[in-house]
Amino acid sequence: MRELGPLQIHLWQYSIGDPLDARPLAHALTLLNDAEKRRAAAFHFDKHRAAYTLSHAMLRLVLSQYALVRPEEWQFLAGPWGKLEIAAPALDTPLWFNLSHTDGFAVCVAGRVSQLGVDVENVNRKTSHDELAQRYFAAAEYDYLRNLPPHLQREAFFRIWTLKEAYIKAEGKGLSIPLASFSFRFSADHPAQVTFESSRESNPDHWSFYEFQPAPDYRISLAARNAGYASFHVERLDAAPLLNG
Ligand SMILES: CC(C)(COP(=O)(O)OP(=O)(O)OC[C@H]1O[C@@H](n2cnc3c(N)ncnc32)[C@H](O)[C@@H]1OP(=O)(O)O)[C@@H](O)C(=O)NCCC(=O)NCCS
Repeated sequence: MRELGPLQIHLWQYSIGDPLDARPLAHALTLLNDAEKRRAAAFHFDKHRAAYTLSHAMLRLVLSQYALVRPEEWQFLAGPWGKLEIAAPALDTPLWFNLSHTDGFAVCVAGRVSQLGVDVENVNRKTSHDELAQRYFAAAEYDYLRNLPPHLQREAFFRIWTLKEAYIKAEGKGLSIPLASFSFRFSADHPAQVTFESSRESNPDHWSFYEFQPAPDYRISLAARNAGYASFHVERLDAAPLLNG
């Protein structure tokens, strides 16, 4: 079993691969429960079905690193906005997680803090980033983007996007939190810093953000509520050995 202290977060990553490797996929399918298998079967495209199957199997395998529970034994329940948490078995030390998957990549974070969120995006994904930023980002973020040289705007857009998603996922309240009600700013010698609109009643000092680029096409952001005590030590781990069996 792996140790996971109160200020540690483990970020597990898995490159899904194209073409798909049949062996981890077959193994993954054996770990899902009936509801997950039904959800997987409902995807129209093979690549979406595979991403769902592999990432939910990864989640089960990852959780079993921290407790004497078999991967297929975990039971989950979804909060009012869809955030999953462990429903059973009961654990001596609470364990929290969040999951994200995109075209070709899946990530799962595990920690001892409930407000934990992660987002991974493929930065080559086709988006009209100027339009989306104007529509959803805070005014200061949109200004920041517009003032960057054009060749840096796409990357910066996904930087802000993943940070926003990670924060929203940590809060677990989905898009009921307006995306323009909080804003990120960047400087050379600091990690991303958040500002909240006064209506949000949230303290920026209580949040820690981390950013990673696991491969040139992907960006990962992680958000965790530190309650003002300290920040976390984030360790990145490869989930491939777990899925390859
Ligand atoms: C559902 C949402 C939580 C994330 O969606 P997403 O980025 O498309 O998907 P991700 O792969 O990162 O995360 C999906 C996983 O998050 C988890 N999740 C679902 N609802 C969640 C919630 N309310 N809070 C935290 N996690 C949630 C689930 O494990 C889900 O996996 P599953 O769908 O395979 O069961 C939500 O934020 C959303 O719908 N976002 C829309 C995207 C958007 O418009 N972004 C604009 C940014 S500028």
